[in-house]
Amino acid sequence: MAAKDITARQATHVAIIMDGNGRWATSRGWPRLVGHRRGANRVRAIVRAAPGFGIRYLTIFAFSTENWKRSTEEVIGLMALFARYIRNEADKLDEAGVRVNFIGSRDRLDPNIQNLMAGIEQKTRTNDRLVLTIAINYGGRDEIVRAARRLASDVAGGKLQPGDVDEAALEARLDTADLPDPDLIIRTSGETRTSNFLLWQSAYAEYEFTETLWPDFTAEELGRIINRFGRRERRFGGVLSA
Ligand code: IPE
Ligand code: IPE
Ligand code: MG
Repeated sequence: MAAKDITARQATHVAIIMDGNGRWATSRGWPRLVGHRRGANRVRAIVRAAPGFGIRYLTIFAFSTENWKRSTEEVIGLMALFARYIRNEADKLDEAGVRVNFIGSRDRLDPNIQNLMAGIEQKTRTNDRLVLTIAINYGGRDEIVRAARRLASDVAGGKLQPGDVDEAALEARLDTADLPDPDLIIRTSGETRTSNFLLWQSAYAEYEFTETLWPDFTAEELGRIINRFGRRERRFGGVLSA
């Protein structure tokens, strides 16, 4: 590993587990969906602020493969919110030079949302100021299983030998094949677990946990976290050179 990697200080790829919308709302006696709506506003603010902190890749966890367990009302409300976000933000994101991508399994999503997703990906595909990756119906285990299935089918089809299956071959079949690994993963709301987010990609990520609920998370707090990250020592299994 090159020395420059060992001392890297810039958080180029930041991933966020946006948690706490439900608690934010229920603590005020409001329906959980009000918290999700407020959370979507925070996404707008954080995406706007990210390039100013040197972030080139921002990946956000919006809906997990496990979130289908929630009430039908909440799931439908969240899906409507995703659709509205894409419709309302497409032009603004494009003008701001943001390239939008999605990770996760799309099959189970409503065809209208799948079309909106494909549309914004296509519209913003040549932008390069910030790559915004939105994880919808995403689970790290599901992603690895789907990649393994692709490997198996390539081997069965004679395109790949079993001995060619290595880290790079698997990585190339993940939803994140075009993204660098995250440098920093932030989780809001005081929970200190990964909840199935970027399992493969997080091998050497730094983690930051904040008590702040996602609807209260600000660009200022992101800035403080980024500054703290800049002072961390990342060794990637090596030894720091003097
Ligand atoms: C995160 O907030 C958003 C999604 C999971 C969609 P939550 O809805 O999990 O909020 P809490 O954890 O119940 O407070
Ligand atoms: C993780 O949050 C998923 C998202 C933020 C989209 P959850 O609220 O679903 O995770 P758990 O249930 O607390 O582990
Ligand atoms: Mg939660």
